[in-house]
Amino acid sequence: MTGATPVFCDINPHTFNLDPDSLKEQVERVLREGTLTPKAVIPVDLFGEPAEFPRIEEICREYHLLLMEDAAQGFGGAIQGKRACCFGDVSATSFFPAKVLGCYGDGGAIFTDDEEMYQKLLSIRVHGKGSDKYENIRLGLNARLDTVQAAILLPKLRALDEEITVRNRMAARYSEQLEGIVEPQAVLDGYFSSFGYYTVQARDGAHRDAIMKELKEQGIPTMIYYPIPLHLQKVYEPLGYQKGDLPVCEALCERVFSLPMHGYLTQEQVDFICDTIKSL
Ligand SMILES: Cc1ncc(COP(=O)(O)O)c(C=O)c1O
Repeated sequence: MTGATPVFCDINPHTFNLDPDSLKEQVERVLREGTLTPKAVIPVDLFGEPAEFPRIEEICREYHLLLMEDAAQGFGGAIQGKRACCFGDVSATSFFPAKVLGCYGDGGAIFTDDEEMYQKLLSIRVHGKGSDKYENIRLGLNARLDTVQAAILLPKLRALDEEITVRNRMAARYSEQLEGIVEPQAVLDGYFSSFGYYTVQARDGAHRDAIMKELKEQGIPTMIYYPIPLHLQKVYEPLGYQKGDLPVCEALCERVFSLPMHGYLTQEQVDFICDTIKSL
């Protein structure tokens, strides 16, 4: 919408997050080719685990790039105690119902400690308002958070830490019981995941299909996050990406899937799910 051209990077095969080496390679490639001007980096905190910000921040400083944290899934995560939504120049999270802190419709929040950006965002949120909402000084959006959604988020925010503790306990239980069968998303040393989603790698596509089919027969829902990598989405066809351009990401799309995860999951439920998988 801003006219910018996305350039995609590959990911770490264990954390599934942006690979800083790939980011550096892509920035260098773009600079070498000279057609585009690198401006900003948008790393995603996938499934609740913050992206590798210490290294990404270094690269952004070196190449003078704005850093925008996509913390839609990151809320509640942390690196060495520093919370997700605090990394880079500006960060956005989502309160869509499937997220760690979900409302009952659509919602989200932006975080920045840059006063100028903050004032601009307040204006964009209300149709580009100026000194009041009937003076318009720029193009804007209707991006207000509904009061009803905010009323749902407030008590859920108070319960969030406890829910994230349960999510972490259940993730550890899954990982322990499924060791040697599937490989869970790796959480780096010093990193804390809010486990918005619990995602594992099967050996290959056929193994994934077999597990998902068995779970479905037992009434256990699973999801594939995500079946099509961004660079191969139809919307980006004009950019000319081909299969094979980002091999790690493409291989993972073939074999990852997510198991039930929420703040009220019980040990018995996790055990039942793991027993179903182990029965194969
Ligand atoms: C990583 C990521 N970015 C952005 C979004 C978009 O959030 P929303 O649907 O609230 O605009 C989502 C969720 O849909 C997401 O998972």
